[in-house]
Amino acid sequence: MQKIREFHRQSVQDKETFWAREAQRIHWETPFTQVLDYSRPPFARWFVGGRTNLCYNAVDRWLDTQADQPALIWVSTEVDQEITYTRADLAREVNAAAAILQSLGVVQGDRVLIYLPMIPQAAFFMLACARIGAIHSVVFGGFAAHNLAQRIDDAQPKVIVSTDAGARGGRPIAYKPLLDQAIQQAAHVPEHVVLVDRGLVPMTLTAGRDLDYATLRARHLDVRVPVVWLESNTPSYVLYTSGTTGNPKGVQRDVGGYAVALCASMEYIFGGKPGDVYFSSSDVGWVVGHSYVVYGPLLNGQTTVMYEGTPIRPDAAILWRIVETYGVNALFSAPTAIRVLKKHDPALLRRHDLSSLERIYLAGEPLDELTGQWLSEALGKPVIDNYWQTETGWPILSAQPGVEEVPVRFGSPTAPVYGYDVRVVNEATGQDCGPNQKGVVAVEPPLPPGAMATIWRNDERFVKTYFQSFPGRLTYSTSDWGLVDDDGYWYILGRTDDVINVAGHRLGTREIEESVNTHPAVAESAVVGVADPIKGQQAVAFAVLRDPAVLDAADARDRLEREIKQVIEQRNGAVARPSRILFVNNLPKTRSGKVLRRAIVALCEGRDPGDLTTIEDPGALDQIRSVL
Ligand code: PRX
Repeated sequence: MQKIREFHRQSVQDKETFWAREAQRIHWETPFTQVLDYSRPPFARWFVGGRTNLCYNAVDRWLDTQADQPALIWVSTEVDQEITYTRADLAREVNAAAAILQSLGVVQGDRVLIYLPMIPQAAFFMLACARIGAIHSVVFGGFAAHNLAQRIDDAQPKVIVSTDAGARGGRPIAYKPLLDQAIQQAAHVPEHVVLVDRGLVPMTLTAGRDLDYATLRARHLDVRVPVVWLESNTPSYVLYTSGTTGNPKGVQRDVGGYAVALCASMEYIFGGKPGDVYFSSSDVGWVVGHSYVVYGPLLNGQTTVMYEGTPIRPDAAILWRIVETYGVNALFSAPTAIRVLKKHDPALLRRHDLSSLERIYLAGEPLDELTGQWLSEALGKPVIDNYWQTETGWPILSAQPGVEEVPVRFGSPTAPVYGYDVRVVNEATGQDCGPNQKGVVAVEPPLPPGAMATIWRNDERFVKTYFQSFPGRLTYSTSDWGLVDDDGYWYILGRTDDVINVAGHRLGTREIEESVNTHPAVAESAVVGVADPIKGQQAVAFAVLRDPAVLDAADARDRLEREIKQVIEQRNGAVARPSRILFVNNLPKTRSGKVLRRAIVALCEGRDPGDLTTIEDPGALDQIRSVL
């Protein structure tokens, strides 16, 4: 790992020189005057004074050389459609979307909330916002009314872009009724809703507020919207992510730092060059969709493949069919998808010509050794585990084949990526840990370009949430446990907080508990993440009823379980639905009233619950045991 180490050393020891060089990858309309302003720790400002634009760099900059080459390929196995947009087509659609937004009064700094499935309009509107300096906030389509309402109130969008429906497994999933409910629940009132009518389910439009995208597009097609040149540290987007409280955090990203970091990562981490084809199967509603479906590949002059569908429909070879058809060079997916494929006929992995494919990247949740090994042996291609977060926007730990090819070890996301001064820190002492000592994975600030600038409209929460975990030092905490072995390979060992990860979806247990507690029969609840062989984790809820006697009635248990699951689905979406709702008389708590989650998880996973000296009522654990 000599080259990787040396490259990393330069990037953290002489940040200014390193990043000034990388910044030359993108177009600056006005050059920056200062590479880094770190006068107000932990807030870092990169490429100060420079003016640039994400949309210009992703679209316009490539028109001279790549106008007729595919820029965005959309594949939907849900509605059986495939469309290739060249860079010129993309420019046309993005300009039309920008003109639509402008016609609705959207100007620089206004927020536009995008609640769409995996359809090209999601990318068009994201890039359109970037073009005119509007701040987009994409909300994952799997989230429901309550999540959406919270985000509407926090981001306060002038315009929302949505649709009649998404689809999963061939069945339409209506979006519009959820959106209407959310707007009703929210205190903030958006001025307009632009609706992409896919003709999947009928929808009712609210007169004066709701507008039809196709009509607006026809009106604005072929309008050229000038690029707004933005100072590098202007907010580009806000993406909400879960933490330990019921309120999601709006991760705010800049313009210049993000463009530079993503462009560099395409080469160093993903081994890509202009003209290459990149396929990330993530949803645009998650950070991977932002960085590696939309921005990263396009910024680097690559083709991006956007996929609406599951990895097993029409059959478990669909990802490989897409690789063959479009000559994909790098595939980015999640361990859960691969664990699902493992249950299908291995012959499907050999049905297609995968000669274009150089590497496969997996992230978002722990990649277990067996799955990594299985995939790499079955395909004969390197499988790269990378570790990062919504907050960082691009990988923290990864193999970096564009810097140096090194052997990977399954179970390890290899080594720190240039730009990140990563440490393993003892949370009690605040000291760095030695080799093989477990601690919290942390990053010495300033965070590199492209990482979060702050929490939207909440600098104080940014500092408190991320920079106050360790005594005596202002260091960014990832809230993940980790360790480094003797050879310098890093390992991630689970979350330190109550965030869980279901099939690569990051969920806050507190948000699910709040939903369980809205059921009138429930007094309190605890939601925990329990190991699952396919999804990594699954949510399990324990509820204490106001009147336990209601369970005496026939079918009461099933009915309540069903109702509570329904509440969660309506408020948080199907992704958050626990696999089981179990009823207990009280929750195991410490004498100071904290729920002993780790002990509950241990029991659910059939392990020893560990040290219980602080427990208030040991009987509570016996009850958990018996309901399990
Ligand atoms: O707990 C870590 C886990 O997912 C969290 C971040 O999730 P999210 O914000 O949705 O961003 C995903 C970006 C890929 C982390 O704090 N996680 C992510 N990647 C890995 C991982 N855990 C183990 N190994 C990974 N490769």
